[in-house]
Amino acid sequence: MPVVIDPNSGVINTLLGALPPGTHGVESSDRLGPWLDNRPDEYLVVLGPTVELEEALSVCDGLRFSRPTTSVVLVRDVVDTDVLTRAMHSGARDVVLSADENAIDAAADRARQLWQALRGPGGAAHTGKVISIFSPKGGVGKTTMAVNLALALGDRGARQVCLVDLDLAFGDVAITMQLFPSHSIEHAVGSEDTLDYGSIDGLLTRHDSGLMVMAAPNLPDARDRISPTLVSRMVRTLKEKYDYVILDTAPAFDEQTLTALDETDDLVMVATLDVPTLKNVKVALETLDMLDITRDHRFLLLNRADDAVGISAEKVEAILGMPVTARISTSIDIAAATNAGRPIVMSAPDHPSSKTLRTLAASLAGEENPDPDDEADDSNSRRRRKRR
Ligand SMILES: Nc1ncnc2c1ncn2[C@@H]1O[C@H](COP(=O)(O)OP(=O)(O)O)[C@@H](O)[C@H]1O
Ligand SMILES: [Mg+2]
Repeated sequence: MPVVIDPNSGVINTLLGALPPGTHGVESSDRLGPWLDNRPDEYLVVLGPTVELEEALSVCDGLRFSRPTTSVVLVRDVVDTDVLTRAMHSGARDVVLSADENAIDAAADRARQLWQALRGPGGAAHTGKVISIFSPKGGVGKTTMAVNLALALGDRGARQVCLVDLDLAFGDVAITMQLFPSHSIEHAVGSEDTLDYGSIDGLLTRHDSGLMVMAAPNLPDARDRISPTLVSRMVRTLKEKYDYVILDTAPAFDEQTLTALDETDDLVMVATLDVPTLKNVKVALETLDMLDITRDHRFLLLNRADDAVGISAEKVEAILGMPVTARISTSIDIAAATNAGRPIVMSAPDHPSSKTLRTLAASLAGEENPDPDDEADDSNSRRRRKRR
């Protein structure tokens, strides 16, 4: 998907409104290199009008050789022949006026067509999105949410989804889905350097819904044999095949989890409304900031967000410094559905929590809310992108 760069967040929002859903905004070109390294399918970089012309031209110059299939479009408040000539020499594909939303949209379209033509329909590498469900605390609902979000994402069209249980010592995705895996990630130990989809395929377990699951090892001591290299190779291989790779994680910053988070496109941070959890979530967010992991790509899911506990969503937003994306109440139906092996989005699609989870899945997929009347329930889609 395209990426927009501009130091002014208001300008980013305006440009996002003119670009396809799923476009990302970043406030500095410094992070462009690492961002693109992880995303071989990024077909367009849009440089907003507040980016200095010299800086914009140097980005064009750099990408001309390092990423010839990625188009660069300059958006300028004023365009004259000097800007046009210099942009052309630097390899910009288009220069458009900031006031002309249609021209920006058309430039994005041309960039996508060019990218497809250059890569060829058969040769295009598939790159799915990696979504991690994380919390520094255990028992907050990570696995419950990971399973339900994976099912909701798979439900939305014929999407291929793989759920990987990276709670390597005490993973319970398989039992939550009433699966009896014959293999787990442990069986890939030793093949870190040769791992390909052919070898991973046989380690997956299929759920009735079509969701594929990479189970965690049976015994906790296997965790130490699963190296960070294996984790990253596994995730990278899976995303070549699946549209969404969902990672359920352990409540720890061990090296396997950090590697997984480093491979993550979008992070769903799960928090509950108690002071110790909020304190740990805050520390975790600060640590992720320090490591420059998933900045600007985080969704905050409040689980067990019940009014009676005395901490409001607004208070949470003030403490954590980020908006609440979705809220799920405590509900016996959620626990009962999990215990029956039929997660709530499957067993009770009309349940308010199922609707909230589908809305969150739609946000993660960069799509519109699938159930527009969901606005009435406890979902909150402040992060949903503006659409044309
Ligand atoms: N919103 C909720 N309402 C009721 N029970 C919940 C809710 N979310 C999670 N649970 C239950 O809480 C327990 C812990 O959830 P789990 O997803 O395993 O947490 P984690 O993976 O963070 O350790 C499970 O028994 C689950 O069914
Ligand atoms: Mg868990």
